[in-house]
Order: sequence, then C-alpha cells, then structure tokens
Amino acid sequence: MSEKNVEKAVREKYGAAARQVAEGKTACCGGGGELSGCDPITRNLYDREEKNGLPREAVAASLGCGNPTALAQLQPGEIVLDLGSGGGMDVLLSARRVAPGGKAYGLDMTDEMLALARDNQKKAGVENVEFLKGTIENIPLPDSSVDVIISNCVINLSGDKDRVMREAFRVLKPGGRFAVSDVVIRGEVPAEVRRSMELWVGCIAGALEESEYREKLSIAGFEAVDVEPTRIYQVEEARGFLSAAGLDAEVVGPQIKGKFMSAFICARKPTTVACECPPGCVDLPCCN
Ligand SMILES: C[S@@+](CC[C@H](N)C(=O)[O-])C[C@H]1O[C@@H](n2cnc3c(N)ncnc32)[C@H](O)[C@@H]1O
Repeated sequence: MSEKNVEKAVREKYGAAARQVAEGKTACCGGGGELSGCDPITRNLYDREEKNGLPREAVAASLGCGNPTALAQLQPGEIVLDLGSGGGMDVLLSARRVAPGGKAYGLDMTDEMLALARDNQKKAGVENVEFLKGTIENIPLPDSSVDVIISNCVINLSGDKDRVMREAFRVLKPGGRFAVSDVVIRGEVPAEVRRSMELWVGCIAGALEESEYREKLSIAGFEAVDVEPTRIYQVEEARGFLSAAGLDAEVVGPQIKGKFMSAFICARKPTTVACECPPGCVDLPCCN
C-alpha cells in the first residue's frame, strides 16, 4: 500500500474515533478503548491518579499502547513533543510534569483529533500546551528545539518510518531524548498479518521488528538505543483481531505467539554530532 493510501486510511480511522468520543462514546483501536477495557492494547495503561483532573473525553480518546510520559523522566522546564497526540492525554500529562517553565506540544494530522485535543486542553485549563497540525514525517518545528520526543502507538502507523526518525533527530536538541511507546515485533510474522489493512490501522500490522527499530534509530543518528517490552500479547488476546481481519486464528495464532508486544523505546541524540559526509549525501541527518 502506498504511503498516501496509508495516510488516508489512518486519517479516516482516527477521524471516526474522535467523532465517537465527541458523541460521548469511547474510541476504539482495533477493538475497544481505555474505558471499555475490552482492548488488550489500550487497557489499563494509566493509574487513577494520572487520570484525575483530566477531561473524560481525553481519557476516552486514549488509543496508546503504553505510558511514555511516565517512563520518559520528564523534568520541569523541558520542552516535550508528542508525535501523533490524538485526544491529547499524554500532552496534558506531560504539561503537568514539565511545569513550571516547560511546554508540551502535540502534533497530529487528523482535524477531528486536533479539535478534540484543543477542547480537552480548554476543559483541563492547562496553559503550557500547544497542538500543531502536521505529519510526523514532516514535523513543523525548527531544528534542535525539543528536549524530549514522546509518542504512543503512532510510529507503527507511518508508511515512512525512516523519515519519522530523521525528523525526530532533527528537532531534538543535542542530548535530547527519544522516549516512545510502540508496538514491536520480535521475529518473523506471517505475510498475511502484515498485509492486513484492518490490523494496520488497528495499531498492529505496521509495527517494526525489534532489530529493524534499533537499526533505523541508529541510522538516523541516535545512540544508547534500548527496547524494553512493557506488555507481551497472548494469542488468546489477538483472536478477535485475527478473525475480524478474515484470518484463521487457529492457523495464524501459533505463528505469532510471543512475537507482538508493546515496548518502551528510548534513545538519545548525541551531544556532539560527528559527521563525515560523503559527496552528494542527502540521507544522513548531519549532511543536510
Ligand atoms: C493510535 S492513535 C494514538 C493517539 C495518542 N498517541 C494516544 O495515545 O491516544 C494514533 C494518532 O496518531 C495520528 N497519526 C497517525 N499517523 C500520523 C502521521 N503520519 N502524522 C501525524 N499524525 C498521525 C492519528 O491521527 C491519531 O490521532
């Protein structure tokens, strides 16, 4: 599927999810949401204390697969950027952690999600937040302007992950941190699972294999790359996804056992970027 088609399908899926929340329902990512508790990916990611004081709609729109804000060790005064901020829950949580003096940006390409997030910001009465419209493949912020990049189950949806990582590297300050929750695959996965559009927009099939994730981050220029599993999905939990996509769970189930997980992926932009630029090079971030 072309990058543009992926983008269109993702935009439609998350536009519909945002409309659902605006109508008082809970958003779904492949099968359920934070409030309904029927989705093994989005279920029970935040503790009660974190959710306290957040608008219902921010919690209901939560479609992540981890809690990067809790793991990123955010400090007062820092600038944070959330790639694919959705209804804005992680942005609002980050804003609390970087106050006073810090700011949290949310970036999303879906108009309905941005409207929901801005509404949630108003309801929460949080000042040090700004939601930007744009794609994570083309971040609308200047070079070296951000201390920490967070993201929650979004990079797996991108049709050009190399570009996302180059952009993340570009906007981070030297020494800046990449602290992302994402779905990661360990080992080989049947082709039909990767091909399945339904699973793709449901946060699974666009996921990178763990070693690919590490390699892409290193190529983009990051150091100290680490991938920590936070939740390993059981075949039983995936049964619903597989049948909904027309796949035979009995056949595919054993082939994916223990291979799909949510992970916390962290890396750092070096404080000094050593670069030897071959003539004509445009791919290395330091050559541009
Ligand atoms: C799975 S939801 C996650 C939302 C949020 N991070 C959370 O934890 O609830 C994916 C979000 O990323 C956005 N998104 C997906 N691909 C994107 C891209 N290439 N550029 C910008 N936003 C994107 C979607 O519009 C949607 O709001």
